[in-house]
Formats: sequence, C-alpha cells, structure tokens
Amino acid sequence: MMKNYTGYALLAAGALFGISVATGASADVNKLTESCTGCHGKGGSSTEAAIPNIGGYSAEYMKGALKLYKTKERPCPEVKIPAGAKKGSKSDMCQAVKDLSDADIKQIAESYAEQKFVRTPQKFDPALAKKGKGLHDKLCEKCHSEGGSEASDDSGVLAGQKMAYLEEQIKFFTEGKRPMAKKMKPKLEELDKAGVEAIVHYYGSFK
Ligand code: HEC
Ligand code: HEC
Repeated sequence: MMKNYTGYALLAAGALFGISVATGASADVNKLTESCTGCHGKGGSSTEAAIPNIGGYSAEYMKGALKLYKTKERPCPEVKIPAGAKKGSKSDMCQAVKDLSDADIKQIAESYAEQKFVRTPQKFDPALAKKGKGLHDKLCEKCHSEGGSEASDDSGVLAGQKMAYLEEQIKFFTEGKRPMAKKMKPKLEELDKAGVEAIVHYYGSFK
C-alpha cells in the first residue's frame, strides 16, 4: 500500500515537472527568437528589402536552412542592422545562428512555422510578371507549386517573398555559392538575365 502511494506521488511529481519543463521551453523560445525579430520583424516579416519573410515557413525547411547557415554552406551577406534591433545584434545569418544548438533550432523553427507568411506588397512590372509566369509554369511550377506560394518541407515561399532577396538567391545558386536540388539546376540554367528579372517580378506580383 505504502509502496503504491509512493509510486503515485512520484508520478504526480513527474507530471508537475513535465508541466514546468514545458512552460520553461516556451519562455525560452521567445528569448531565442528575440534576436531574429530585430532583423526579420515580428512574426517573421520585416520591411527591409534584403531580409526574407520567414513566418509560416515549414519547420522542416527552416531547420535545414538554419543548419546550412551554421555550417556556412549558404552565403551570409552582411546587412545593415535595422533601427530598433536589439543592441549588439549580429550582422549576418551565420553570426545569428552560430551559438544555437540543434534543440534551439528545432524550437525556433517550430515557433515560426506557427506564424502566418506575410506577402510583401512590392512594385512590379505587369508585363515582366506575365512573362515570368510563363517561365515559372514551364520550369519551376513542378517543385514550387502555385507560383511558389506553398511553404513546403523542401523550400521557402517564393510568391510575395522579397524580390531583392529572391534575385540574390538565384545569383547564389547559379554562381554555385548556395547548394541546390540537382533537378533545379538545369531549369535555372535555362533562364537568361532577362528571364531571371521576369520571374522575380512574377513572384513579386503576388499580393
Ligand atoms: C542581422 C540581421 C538578421 C538576423 C539577426 C537574423 N537574420 Fe535571418 N536572414 C537575414 C538575411 C539578410 C537573410 C538572407 C540571407 C541570404 O542571402 O541568404 C536571412 C535569411 C534567413 C532565412 C532563410 C530564408 C529562406 O527563404 O531560405 C531564415 C530561415 C532565417 N533568416 C531565420 C532567422 C532566424 C531564425 C534568426 C534568429 C535566430 C535570424 N534569421 C536572425 C538577416 C537576419
Ligand atoms: C526539382 C525541384 C525544383 C525545381 C524544378 C526548381 N526548384 Fe527552386 N528550389 C527547390 C528546392 C528543393 C529548394 C530549396 C533549396 C535548399 O535546400 O535550400 C529551392 C529553392 C529555391 C529558391 C530559394 C528560396 C528561398 O527561400 O531561399 C529560389 C529563389 C528558387 N528555388 C527558384 C526556382 C526557380 C526560379 C525555378 C525554375 C527556373 C526553380 N526554383 C525550380 C527545388 C526546385
């Protein structure tokens, strides 16, 4: 009888401990994302042209992306730290993720996945966007469905993403500075400079 009682008490303590761990974890994630907010904005959408919107991204893709920055397999262009960012903020993505553990990365990714992706209203040329849609449908739609508007486990969102960011990433891919899916390479190589411009205007046309 006594033995059973002790067992029960231990279980109850375990449950309590479980709860306190869970609360601790959610407090931590706010602390972890605090440094991101300075650049990426609240909920993962900023007004800075060079900084991609990341709210609503798939946690799976996000984890992969953050690890690529950690190992510096993705280039880390330095950005001007937006006004209002936390004092002493790191100036690029490799710096921003340098000290994060895998567990931190998982928590951060899951927290952004719960947000909503915000499309940035951008100036675009309708004629170029139309040409870009044709190119996208032919070369890219198979993987980036609905104009790249879906947050998939494989990729970020293209529709309504910052045009300057997308243009830069395409440059990184074609220059071999950012790893890309094997099957994406030949498709991207079919785009000339004007094609890249058109396709970026197409993604920028999503409101
Ligand atoms: C100094 C500003 C800055 C800080 C701080 C920062 N970022 Fe970034 N982030 C950027 C910039 C700039 C890029 C685009 C870099 C590039 O060209 O690859 C980026 C890219 C990303 C991407 C890739 C998006 C995609 O579509 O592949 C993810 C994910 C991301 N950041 C998440 C985070 C998280 C999570 C944090 C906090 C731990 C963070 N960032 C902190 C500026 C910042
Ligand atoms: C075979 C599938 C496939 C095809 C076809 C494809 N992509 Fe991708 N794309 C991917 C994957 C996977 C990623 C994520 C790469 C990574 O792991 O960082 C990606 C990433 C991107 C990114 C970066 C997004 C970000 O958030 O940083 C851009 C921009 C992009 N693709 C543009 C294109 C364009 C333009 C085309 C057509 C010319 C195209 N892709 C065709 C699979 C594909």
